[in-house]
Amino acid sequence: MDSITVGLGSRSYDILIEDGLLGRAAEHLADFARDGRLLVVSDETVWRAQGQRLKDALGGVDLLPILVAPGEDSKSWAGLQSVCDRLLAEGIERKDVIVAFGGGVVGDLAGFAAAIVNRGCGFVQIPTTLLAQVDSSVGGKTGINVAAGKNLVGAFHQPKLVLIDPTVLDTLDPRQVRAGYAEIAKYGLIEDPELFAWLERNGAEVVAGDSDARHHAIAAAVRGKAKVVEADEREMSGRRALLNLGHTFGHALEAATGFSDKLYHGEAVALGCVLAFDFSVERGLCPAEDAARVRAHFAEVGLPTTLAEVGLSRRGAELASHMTHDKKREGGRTAFILAHGIGQAFVDKSVDLADVAAFLDRTS
Ligand SMILES: NC(=O)c1ccc[n+]([C@@H]2O[C@H](COP(=O)([O-])OP(=O)(O)OC[C@H]3O[C@@H](n4cnc5c(N)ncnc54)[C@H](O)[C@@H]3O)[C@@H](O)[C@H]2O)c1
Ligand SMILES: [Zn+2]
Repeated sequence: MDSITVGLGSRSYDILIEDGLLGRAAEHLADFARDGRLLVVSDETVWRAQGQRLKDALGGVDLLPILVAPGEDSKSWAGLQSVCDRLLAEGIERKDVIVAFGGGVVGDLAGFAAAIVNRGCGFVQIPTTLLAQVDSSVGGKTGINVAAGKNLVGAFHQPKLVLIDPTVLDTLDPRQVRAGYAEIAKYGLIEDPELFAWLERNGAEVVAGDSDARHHAIAAAVRGKAKVVEADEREMSGRRALLNLGHTFGHALEAATGFSDKLYHGEAVALGCVLAFDFSVERGLCPAEDAARVRAHFAEVGLPTTLAEVGLSRRGAELASHMTHDKKREGGRTAFILAHGIGQAFVDKSVDLADVAAFLDRTS
């Protein structure tokens, strides 16, 4: 078993990673049960696919599932209200610890509910998508989507524990697995060139679900995120902003496709990383062969790497206009994460959106 600690003083916590960990959940969760019961927030799909495993593992504990509909729409004011009301109806008290059992939607929603119900109670993350295992369950960002944009209302609220069982991914749609994989590769591209080189050799096995490869990749990504979160918990110094590599481009791609199933978040991030590297090459910042490796690798694992294949060629002005709404903007400028090479990402606040639009029009 891998155990990775996120060192944040009194808010420190462990992330445990092991195949079959769900079956041993009692060892780790029994202490959080109160009067023999645990409140679990999940979505209907996850509960159907994996709920029985959690129930079996926690035989002696009464699990009270609070289920939301699967999908991003649950991460809303209405979804938050419903979860909070149901937690309160179950008599939740401040010393209770909620279990968030699902993907990023459930984690963000349940985590935010935990941050505000009774003015804050604890929560544990049991992430069930690859994206949630390597990204959203670690770092304490919680929240919902509102009319003005995604994730614009929320709180930093760190979990007390994160339990990652890679075998829960066996019931996840392979396209979702690939989308989550993009976030793993992102850590390599930001500051871990050895991880990226390892992924070039083993990424196909990670995506296919090979146990050793999957475990290695998840642990490497979690270590990468934990390090960044420790250094910059609240995204104040710019270090945590590096995690947005591929995300300014990606967010524009998601906006242009209506945040729909046409393009999953991780798919947008993969193409966004390709664009960030190509743009870095165009600005004379990055060797062309590094950008070529990025494109080749994402293509090899079945992620989109061209604007043409997602139907967004020659839409530069429109895509750039979506970047002006990016919440990472500071002082009227969009901060771009560009790269001097693989593993050498940096924040660039000098980018002119007109240059980005022209670049996107030239790129196919
Ligand atoms: N808090 C953060 O730091 C952070 C970081 C990145 C992303 N996010 C958020 O994460 C969300 C996306 O998360 P996601 O990609 O995990 O999507 P998701 O939670 O919607 O899950 C994707 C789909 O897979 C299903 N599913 C989940 N686990 C399954 C399993 N084991 N077996 C079968 N089906 C399963 C779900 O029901 C859902 O339909 C977004 O809202 C995004 O904003 C948050
Ligand atoms: Zn992301």
